[in-house]
Amino acid sequence: MAKREQWGTRSGFILAAVGSAIGLGNIWRFPYMAYDNGGGAFLIPYFFALLTAGIPIIILEFGVGHKYRGSAPLTFFNIFGKWEWLGWWQALVAFVISVYYVVVISWALNYAFLALDLGWGTSPERFFFDEFLQLSNGPMDLGGIVWPVFAAAIAMWAVTWIILFSGVKKGIELANKIFMPLLFLLLLIMLVRAVTLEGAAQGIDWLFRPDFSAIADYRVWTAAYGQIFFTLSVCFAIMITYSSYLPAKSDINNNGMMTAFINCGFSLLAGIMVFGVLGHMAATQDVALHEIVTQGVGMAFVTIPEAVNLLPAPEFFGFLFFLSLVFAGLSSMISISEACCSSLIDKFGWDRKPTTSLFCLVGFMLSLIFMTRGGLFILDITDHFINNFGIVFAGLVEVILLSWFFKLDTVRQYANSLSDFAIGTWWNFCLKVITPVVLGYMAVANLVGDIRKNYEGYDGSALVMFGWCVVAGIVLLSFVLQSMKSAWAQKTK
Ligand code: PHE
Ligand code: NA
Repeated sequence: MAKREQWGTRSGFILAAVGSAIGLGNIWRFPYMAYDNGGGAFLIPYFFALLTAGIPIIILEFGVGHKYRGSAPLTFFNIFGKWEWLGWWQALVAFVISVYYVVVISWALNYAFLALDLGWGTSPERFFFDEFLQLSNGPMDLGGIVWPVFAAAIAMWAVTWIILFSGVKKGIELANKIFMPLLFLLLLIMLVRAVTLEGAAQGIDWLFRPDFSAIADYRVWTAAYGQIFFTLSVCFAIMITYSSYLPAKSDINNNGMMTAFINCGFSLLAGIMVFGVLGHMAATQDVALHEIVTQGVGMAFVTIPEAVNLLPAPEFFGFLFFLSLVFAGLSSMISISEACCSSLIDKFGWDRKPTTSLFCLVGFMLSLIFMTRGGLFILDITDHFINNFGIVFAGLVEVILLSWFFKLDTVRQYANSLSDFAIGTWWNFCLKVITPVVLGYMAVANLVGDIRKNYEGYDGSALVMFGWCVVAGIVLLSFVLQSMKSAWAQKTK
C-alpha cells in the first residue's frame, strides 16, 4: 500500500480546512439565520455553541484524524473495529450533500454571468423561480433538465475532478492557496463598498442589536448549534480526513482554533456586508428591513439581486458577490468529495485517479435530479433531512461514542503533546456533557417535529422518497460497507 499523502505546508493545511469551513453557509446562511433568530441576540447562543461544541469537536476531529491516520471509516475502525460504520455514515452524508451543494454553486456561477448585464431584470423573484429555474409544481413533478444549470454543473464537477485527481498537495492544497486569498480579497472589496453605502449603518445596527427575548426560545439555541456544525464542517468526515494528511509533527489545538475563528470571523464580516447592502436597500426604498429579507435560497438569489440593482456599478458588485459564492462553494465541495474518495481509497485499496474519476461521474449523475425543474423542491427536502438527521444524529453518535465509550483524555493529551498550547479539562466536560445534552435534545425535537408535521407541507410520498429513505439508506449502507472486505485488513495479515 502506498504511503499516505501529505500536505506540503502548515498554511496549506489551514487554508484547506478554512476552505472547507467557509462555504455557501457563511455568505447566505449565517446572515439569514441571525436575522430569523433575534438578530444580535443570535450571537450569544452562536458563540456559546462555538466554544462548547464547535471548537472542542474540531480539535477532537483533528486529533483523532492525525493520531489514527485515516479517512473517517478507517479512523473509527482504528479506534474500535466495530465503529467503522460511523465513518461511513458521515462520509455518505457528505456524499449526499455534495450532489446538491454542487447545484447551488452552479446557480451562483450562472448568476455571476447574469450579473454582467443584470440579466435578472427588475423583478428578480419572478426571474429566479419562473425563468431561471422554471420551477415545476412540486417535488413529484420533475419536468426536464434546466440546461444552464446543467452546463454550469458539468463545469463544477470537472473542476472538482481535476483538483481531486491531482492529489492532496498538488490538487487540494494548491487550489485552496489560490481560492482562499481571492475570496478574502473579494470580501474585502465588497465590505468596503457596503459599509460606505447610505443607510448601511441601520442594516448593520440591526444585525447587532440584541433582542434578548429570543434567547429564551430553545429554537434559537438549536438553530445556533446547527449553524455551528454546518459552518465548521464537523461531523462530516471532512476534518478527520484532512487532518489525516498532516505530517507527524503538527500542531492540533492552535490549528483547530484558527480554523474556527477564521471561519466565524468571515461569517461576521459577510453578515456586515450583506446587512449593509440590505440597509441601503431599505433606506432607498423607504421600507422596513424585515419586509425585504427572505430566507434561505431566496436570500442569495432573490434579495441580493434586488439589492444589487440599487447599487452604484451594480454589474460589478453583483459579479463579485456571485463569484465569491462560487469560490467559497467550490473549496467546500472539494472537501466533501475528498472525504468520500479518501474513504474508498482506504477501504478498497484503490488508486486515487480511478477513484476520483468514478466518484465524480457517479456524483454528477445523481446530481442530475437537482438540475430538473422540480430540483429546488427536492433540494429543500433532502437538505432539511440531512441537516436534521444526518448531521445531528451522526454528531450525537460521534460525541457519545468518543466521549463515553472511549478514553477521551488520551486524545487531549495526544493533542497537547503536539500543540503550540495545551487545552484543559474543560474540553472533556464540553464533549462529555454539554454537547450530548444539546444534541440529544435537538435530535428528539427534530424527530418529533418531522413525524408530527410534514415538513413545509410537502407531499408525504416526496418526503418519504427524498427525505426518510435517503436518511435510512445512508445508515443501512454504512453497515453494508463495514461488512465488506477491507484493504487495510489484508495489510495487517
Ligand atoms: N461548511 C460549509 C459552509 O459553511 C458547508 C459544508 C457543509 C461544507 C458540509 C462541507 C460539508 O457552507
Ligand atoms: Na462555514
